[in-house]
Amino acid sequence: MKKLIRNGTIVTAADTYEADILIEHEKISRIGKGLEEAGAEVIDAAGCYVFPGGIDPHTHLDMPFGGTVTADDFATGTMAAAYGGTTTIIDFCLTNKEQPLAAAVQTWHAKSRGKAVIDYGFHLMVSELNDKVLAELPSIMEEEGITSLKVFMAYKNTFQADDGTLYQTLCAAREHGALVMVHAENGDVIDVLVGEALAAGRTDPIHHALTRPPELEGEATGRAAYLTELADSQLYVVHVTCAEAVGKIQEARKKGLRVFGETCPQYLLLDQTALEKPDFEGAKYVWSPPLREAWNQDVLWNALSSGSLQTIGSDQCSFDFIGQKELGRGDFSKIPNGGPTIEDRFSLLYSEGVCKGRITLNQFVDMISTASARLFGLFPRKGTIAVGSDADLVIFDPYGERVISSQTHHMKVDYSAFEGMRITGEPVSVLVRGEFVIRNKEFVGMPGSGQYLKRSRFGGLAKPPLPVVSKEGVL
Ligand code: URP
Ligand code: ZN
Ligand code: ZN
Ligand code: ZN
Repeated sequence: MKKLIRNGTIVTAADTYEADILIEHEKISRIGKGLEEAGAEVIDAAGCYVFPGGIDPHTHLDMPFGGTVTADDFATGTMAAAYGGTTTIIDFCLTNKEQPLAAAVQTWHAKSRGKAVIDYGFHLMVSELNDKVLAELPSIMEEEGITSLKVFMAYKNTFQADDGTLYQTLCAAREHGALVMVHAENGDVIDVLVGEALAAGRTDPIHHALTRPPELEGEATGRAAYLTELADSQLYVVHVTCAEAVGKIQEARKKGLRVFGETCPQYLLLDQTALEKPDFEGAKYVWSPPLREAWNQDVLWNALSSGSLQTIGSDQCSFDFIGQKELGRGDFSKIPNGGPTIEDRFSLLYSEGVCKGRITLNQFVDMISTASARLFGLFPRKGTIAVGSDADLVIFDPYGERVISSQTHHMKVDYSAFEGMRITGEPVSVLVRGEFVIRNKEFVGMPGSGQYLKRSRFGGLAKPPLPVVSKEGVL
């Protein structure tokens, strides 16, 4: 059935204006003032913003990690995302050296199929770029539409790849039009510092942060940027936390390199002192890279508003406090890393960013949606409100107030890192390809209605190359 969203204020990365939106066959078919359409269901959005659905470029759902599996899977994780205004996620498909890439991708399809209530794509982890992987990569990119590759520079003895692998992945990415993503921390040195701390009996959660100092994030970020320059490739640094890493990204961008950066709500809003909470509660705040000294938050906000960082990811990777985070009692290195953020990413950035004057409304849309669509090959199908785009829309009450709590959130995890925080602005209704998933703050979606997204290659680098224009016309 056709739908007509009336009287809302449309906000894209570029514009803010009052207009109606007509939806037909999953897409936006018209935008204009005073639209009329016989037979269309009319939805009144007066007093609300209408945003493009949020795109979360960084999630880990149903992921085995740290001797356990994340508390949220594709059913609960995508439902919580929808409540929060996110209509697309890109999740990390893990791989291992023993398995063909295609088998790893099938594992991730099996985790998500029949469960996801919003659309989703996959990034592919590269742990070793051997001949088999190199041979398989082009067909995986083509057939699965996976156009971003993830390399971990940390988590020694599990996910960590060496510099040779990173360099070769960057070269392959240039060749095939992929974007290389890095978790940038120096895993070898962290391993030494963790060993020293544990040997000295320093076992509580704060030592997670103290053994992963910002120098090691800055160093790895700079190293990855240099290797990107050498390979003439493109790099996206996930979960940037500190001035050291921001500086390296700025340096690379000043040189004209295709280097991009993401940060997450937790690094903008929380700081390292949370890890000192008593009764092991600090474990709730164990992320890698760790939360930093509070002054870094201003550096990150400024990097976002000035364009040095482009996107906000949630890095959703939830573990219950009881039974999961507790695995690290008496040894901080055994605390599963990560936290629940998929639901509140959108509203936290609006409330703390827009309402507090740190970013503009249009910048907000860019960071929460549009920039990720562009970088990850989804634009203009996703990431904007335009004729022909998917009708992924968030009707958002800018004055709605709520207090974040694990008592009321929809993630299947027993705590919130933002417990008790009062925020302004909330999604009222959320549509994915023209169908309500959230209607008047109630979930009305259907497990399995989320579609797998095949994505385009990295911006303009798709083959064949662009035609060369000469005086005589296109050659
Ligand atoms: O602590 C984190 N960030 N956990 C998720 C895995 C990763 O490194 O992104
Ligand atoms: Zn990471
Ligand atoms: Zn201690
Ligand atoms: Zn992550």
